[in-house]
Amino acid sequence: MKTYEVAVLAGDGIGPEVTAAALAVLEAAGEAFGFGLERREYLVGGAALDATGEPLPAETLAGCRRAHGVLLGAVGGPRWDALPGRRRPEAGLLALRKALGVFANLRPVRVPACLVETSPLRAARVEGVDLLVVRELCGGIYFGAPRGRVGSGAEEEAFDTMRYRADEVARIARVAFGEAARRRARVTSVDKANVLAASQLWRDVVEQVHRMAFPGVELAHLYVDNAAMQLIMDPRAFDVILTSNLFGDILSDLAATLTGSLGMLPSGSVGSGAGLFEPVHGSAPGLAGTGRANPLAAILSGAMMLDYLGEGTAAGAVRAAVEDALEQGYRTADLWREGYTLVTTGEMALEVTARVRAAEEAAI
Ligand code: IPM
Ligand code: MN
Repeated sequence: MKTYEVAVLAGDGIGPEVTAAALAVLEAAGEAFGFGLERREYLVGGAALDATGEPLPAETLAGCRRAHGVLLGAVGGPRWDALPGRRRPEAGLLALRKALGVFANLRPVRVPACLVETSPLRAARVEGVDLLVVRELCGGIYFGAPRGRVGSGAEEEAFDTMRYRADEVARIARVAFGEAARRRARVTSVDKANVLAASQLWRDVVEQVHRMAFPGVELAHLYVDNAAMQLIMDPRAFDVILTSNLFGDILSDLAATLTGSLGMLPSGSVGSGAGLFEPVHGSAPGLAGTGRANPLAAILSGAMMLDYLGEGTAAGAVRAAVEDALEQGYRTADLWREGYTLVTTGEMALEVTARVRAAEEAAI
């Protein structure tokens, strides 16, 4: 039996609850589909700061490097908000992404038929939405130097640098075109090339990669302000959205709300080493411990990890189980309305787990 070593970084806020839910589902998938999971837990974010003074202890990074995959919950919270930049929980997550070299962050957005009515948009606009945000994750303004704060009083200045190299743009563009080729063969590259030099390079390189390697995929460009509007006006028009670190961060939260809740959106980040799988949502400190957190983003991130590990059948079973639980009316607090069955984080995990096991029995 194959056994995968999974580094589990639960983090802060609702991170531990949703990660526990995802692990329960992954364990059930392993039992049902014949693979083992060896989980190793490590500290990250605020939890790591409290215990070690570092948001990404060396032991955590070493464990992630050795693992087949990394499952992360969320980081951050008001307790650590006053700390200086490098000692914030978020710095640990960014350092982890950079150190693992996971430059391609894939954020699939689907609106299942049974969630159409929970969307803040009219049903006719969101029915059938199926898009993929491909966000560059190891460069851009998140990491560009110089950055800092100098001076004081009215003359105090702060600055960040949006910086991209041609080869960084080319490698994320290749991922986006490759994904599009397996989908509806349409890439929308999002930039701000009417203002920013980094975006002008971005656009040139995306054009080049398209011409040289993916002429069969349709390519369009949108400025980020227009892209935000189009995502609300006509989300079904998008297949793959290719964009930089900062624009991808913003647009993926926007796209997530199409489903009615940020608690539905999974992500997988891949690159040179072990993949990193984490829900798009944050640590939601106000929800921690209440049982109101939606574990489906974390569970679906687990399914993305199964795909990445080559366990595609199990991944499909997890996705089908999630959809079935929703279709049967189970809802966590974020998506609940009259007429549906309100469940806690843990109960939702049980609903999904039971369906994963039943999928295997049906297959025998
Ligand atoms: C995300 C998050 C992170 C980001 C934060 C927590 C640093 O918002 O994964 O989208 O900005 O990348
Ligand atoms: Mn974000």
